[in-house]
Amino acid sequence: MFSDKDISHFANLETPFYYYDLALLQSTLSNCADAAKLYNFHVHYAMKANFNSRVLEKIRAIGFGADCVSGGEVSKAIELGFDKAQVVFAGVGKSDKEINDALDQDIFCFNVESIQELEVINELAAAKGKKARVAIRINPNVDAHTHHNITTGLDENKFGINSWDLPLCAETLKKSDQLEFIGIHFHIGSQITNLDVYKNLCVRVNEFAEWFEERGFTVKVLNVGGGLGIDYHHPDGQIPDFPAYFKIFNEFLNVRPNQEVHFELGRALVGQSASLVSKVLYVKNGKKKNFIVLDAGMTELMRPALYQAYHKIENISKPAVADVVKYDVVGPICESTDCFGKEVELPETFRNDLIALRSAGAYGEVMASHYNLRNEIRGVYSED
Ligand code: LLP
Repeated sequence: MFSDKDISHFANLETPFYYYDLALLQSTLSNCADAAKLYNFHVHYAMKANFNSRVLEKIRAIGFGADCVSGGEVSKAIELGFDKAQVVFAGVGKSDKEINDALDQDIFCFNVESIQELEVINELAAAKGKKARVAIRINPNVDAHTHHNITTGLDENKFGINSWDLPLCAETLKKSDQLEFIGIHFHIGSQITNLDVYKNLCVRVNEFAEWFEERGFTVKVLNVGGGLGIDYHHPDGQIPDFPAYFKIFNEFLNVRPNQEVHFELGRALVGQSASLVSKVLYVKNGKKKNFIVLDAGMTELMRPALYQAYHKIENISKPAVADVVKYDVVGPICESTDCFGKEVELPETFRNDLIALRSAGAYGEVMASHYNLRNEIRGVYSED
């Protein structure tokens, strides 16, 4: 992924920084858009994965909508020119202010996560004399078979309305004059690599769509969420298999005429397109362990500390060699979990070498924190 030109350019930059490969981002987006077009599927980009403006501009340009989880994301999407008719607002804890602002903006729809939230949106819309389009996020109790911290569609998760509450939900919808029901929404988890999981989701979506239609509702939108995983071990940032992913939904969802199928992909669109580039501050060779101390830590890339997530680590200053040394690669933060990898095999490494943490485009820069009063990180971009 890194050319010699990139690496000599990096040598003059202040580290750490996120490096965005815009060509890879573009081909990932085109690949996804082409695969979705085949079935007339609609893609909303899950902005939480990365809201870097350069990245968002490319996503808007390809024609995807925006899936937002806060007022801040809704505003940024609209500011950057996303079509309001393609902006959806999800999240278990939308504040009154966020709902009011979204009503003022006339966004496409609220993905509603509780009966109380339905009542609040109805009330706030009434005060404005407006109608709010809503989709019901249902918790389908489907196991995503992913890390337990990023699974969202099981009975014990806080997300969505559980199946046993649907009769009350239907009743609330019927008596809420300011709500326009447009469909149902699901999202069962993230970094899903076993595509069979989506077959189980389709079965549940079909059942719930039928349930609503039997009760006189028109289900115009089937929103199946996101979650498609990426290959964190791939050496060159492989583009996810979008054709295989969409094919499953085409085969297993019962889509009636006039119904739309919506997706909310985050990681799969942006994950492979960035690396966190960091400099080696110190190398500590011990009797039991060798440590590489980087100038990037969990404050710049939190996923390994939070989920024990794997990111491929490369010494980009040194050619790959047969004779490797094993290092624990750690950051400067005062926490023992501030570790990017244990016993990582690398060429012999020295102070000032550049280290890349790969596949960091999703949930990387956006999850940075100020802990230990660290400096702002920034994005560096490849040529378009
Ligand atoms: N839709 C909803 C309602 C979501 O909650 C999410 C992600 C997505 C779509 C997009 O999912 P994706 O396609 O990116 O898997 N910070 C964690 C991931 C948290 C995902 C939260 N929800 C990580 O670093 O792995």
